[in-house]
Amino acid sequence: MNWKTRYATFCVVGLCFFGVYLFILDIFSSCTLESAAIWEKTNSTSILHLRKQMEFDKTRDCSCPSKSIGPLDKNTRQRQKKEYTEWEHQESKMAEPMTLCPAMSPIQYLGSGITVEPLKYVRIVGIKIHPALQTNKEVTIILTSRHSLGQLYVESSTITDSLQIAIHGNGSCQLSINTEKINDMNTALSHLAYYSTEHDIRQRDYIDVSIQDFVVVINILIQRHHVPRLYDPGPGNDINRKVTIVAKTFNRYDCVNKLISSINHFYPKMTILIADDSETKQKLNGTNVKHFLMPFKEGYSAGKNLLVSQVRTKYFVWVDDDFVFTNYTILERFVEKLESPTAELDLVAGLISNMKGIAMEDIIKDGWSDVEYVKGQDGGCLFRRKLPVTKVKEFPNCKLKDMVINFFMAKTDAVRNVGFDLVFERIAHREFFIDALGYLRIAQCDDVIIQHRGEGKNKDYKHYRLMENQMKARAAYAERILFKNNLQCFQPWNPIFSSFMKNKKV
Ligand SMILES: *[C@@H]1O[C@H](CO)[C@@H](O)[C@H](O)[C@H]1NC(C)=O
Ligand SMILES: *[C@@H]1O[C@H](CO)[C@@H](O)[C@H](O)[C@H]1NC(C)=O
Ligand SMILES: *[C@@H]1O[C@H](CO)[C@@H](O)[C@H](O)[C@H]1NC(C)=O
Ligand SMILES: *[C@@H]1O[C@H](CO)[C@@H](O)[C@H](O)[C@H]1NC(C)=O
Repeated sequence: MNWKTRYATFCVVGLCFFGVYLFILDIFSSCTLESAAIWEKTNSTSILHLRKQMEFDKTRDCSCPSKSIGPLDKNTRQRQKKEYTEWEHQESKMAEPMTLCPAMSPIQYLGSGITVEPLKYVRIVGIKIHPALQTNKEVTIILTSRHSLGQLYVESSTITDSLQIAIHGNGSCQLSINTEKINDMNTALSHLAYYSTEHDIRQRDYIDVSIQDFVVVINILIQRHHVPRLYDPGPGNDINRKVTIVAKTFNRYDCVNKLISSINHFYPKMTILIADDSETKQKLNGTNVKHFLMPFKEGYSAGKNLLVSQVRTKYFVWVDDDFVFTNYTILERFVEKLESPTAELDLVAGLISNMKGIAMEDIIKDGWSDVEYVKGQDGGCLFRRKLPVTKVKEFPNCKLKDMVINFFMAKTDAVRNVGFDLVFERIAHREFFIDALGYLRIAQCDDVIIQHRGEGKNKDYKHYRLMENQMKARAAYAERILFKNNLQCFQPWNPIFSSFMKNKKV
């Protein structure tokens, strides 16, 4: 192995030091700088190549299995492509930058971590040229703002004024410093600043830094600060100040009244919000209840959004209208988990027990708990994924999951940020969790249990909510999922799809 390969290294993010450079200094001194530079030059093409190489898991591609739903018809697919391109553009703005730290480079720099508010200054710290570059002839360093989103400066001071350097382009997108003295250049570089010239909330600028044949790229994140939004939990650690219970009901007053009465029994001071899109409205029984009347059949997601928008506490509990609280429904245990600063959970589900008192993780037999999204050339795919059980370190009775049941406590703001998609009118439970992938850290714990009455599913209810005998409605529903999540296909997680599974086309 020759020395060039031995010390070939790069870092993707973090501080790119001339550690490598120093290491090889003894060998380096016998080489010319030019020969080192020839070894590898990087450009955006080679970075792209590295990005491709990075992808490891090629085991699953997006060829749709026969037991799946999709794809969309050609015309719809065309429209989807256009929408997807827009989405992808926005998403790419959030991508981590890749910074290649070249071997044997005499330039030290920060690979990432410089941030600035729009229309403000930041010092570009960390750039230094190694003195071994000293050549007794003039050298020039050139810094260029690649997207012209800012101006580069050398700050004036008695120190910088006394340096033997020539600066060109001070206050423009391209700045150069010319000198015979590397030490003077380094002093000037320690006074380097960047002024962001565009008013935007989030952008990234790249600064190409070149000296002789060496080039490195620095990135600067231009971003507005986020303003904190805090909830006052009130004095005395009162759970009623922290938690609101919400439920959506439809044509099931007997159910929802039993739920309210059970909550009033165990948490007499806790606020309950009920969204109601029943056909003939009735008054609700119980105390601390806010009854939100919605137009008939307005829908499940609309109800959820309405409810979450009306929560005034840091956390809320979601329950279905056919659940009842028992003495095992201990909400304090949910709060404890959400408040753990290290577990960092956003949403914690409990268990559901049937009328015989048997507690289960899901109402549906063999329900999904983990999801895999595969990015395909021509749209992605959603598959069920069977992951090994991962326990929450702080709470060994909790498992991390992608999807949980309809009984959970969550951080209000975290759920608001995901939202409930109104595209889904009747059934939107697992769909919410698909939207929440990558946004919410979710667990299910076995020490909070609610009872599912599993009755009262009257004929009307089945007809509307479960889309019974409504093939058209089901097909439309499947089509919406395909479009919305930019999918070629998905494996059905809901029994309502099974009827048109054989006929794969939607
Ligand atoms: C970029 O680098 C690659 C390999 O390192 C090389 O093949 C390609 O010609 C370079 N492209 C440009 C525009 O310099
Ligand atoms: C560069 O421009 C800034 C802003 O106009 C100025 O404050 C500074 O003195 C200039 N630096 C030098 C070295 O002239
Ligand atoms: C609700 O209250 C009314 C009168 O206050 C009572 O007649 C009715 O039975 C109650 N319903 C339930 C489900 O408790
Ligand atoms: C709940 O109540 C039942 C009987 O009513 C009792 O056996 C059980 O221990 C109680 N559980 C808790 C957690 O208090």
